[in-house]
Amino acid sequence: MSRRAFTGVMIALTAMTTVLVACQETQVPTAVPIKFEPTPAPVNTTGPGSTSGPQGTSASAPAVAPVVGDAKRGQALFSHHGCSACHKTDTTTLVGPGLGGIGALAGSRVAGLSAEAYIDQSIRVPDKFLVPTFANLMPATFKDMPAAEIADLFAYLNTLK
Ligand code: HEC
Repeated sequence: MSRRAFTGVMIALTAMTTVLVACQETQVPTAVPIKFEPTPAPVNTTGPGSTSGPQGTSASAPAVAPVVGDAKRGQALFSHHGCSACHKTDTTTLVGPGLGGIGALAGSRVAGLSAEAYIDQSIRVPDKFLVPTFANLMPATFKDMPAAEIADLFAYLNTLK
């Protein structure tokens, strides 16, 4: 091998080594651990049976997604379901207790039940806890009320003073 060719090979080897080292150096930044910050799934507004997402996951989505109630819809539901036939929206008694101030009261009615859980139970299973001095007169017909309607009613009841 001539000296010239040898020099050429050495230059080529040096260049390759430089490239390899350079490649290794550029790998270092990617070794920084990637932070995984999941964003919450979008609220499924169309409910089960929506075409978004693969089948099976859409059925379980409502259980995971937080249901945010709407007081305006809750007000409409309150008359639609006939709650107003038995409940006044101030603190006076009709057939059932007046629901004025129930938002502040609900969380302390039953030990271990949050305000929202108590309202949910009062609507779906009204005989599980009876408001003192009241009889079991609230119909059990609301036991299958959708969670979204309960949330709307809860939002509305919270506005009652
Ligand atoms: C036929 C009359 C009647 C109807 C209709 C009725 N309720 Fe009642 N409700 C009662 C009575 C009586 C009580 C008290 C006894 C008890 O705790 O179940 C009560 C209790 C409650 C309580 C607990 C109040 C408290 O002070 O802790 C809530 C909340 C409530 N009802 C919400 C509703 C909502 C919402 C509807 C409509 C979806 C409704 N009720 C429909 C009669 C009724």
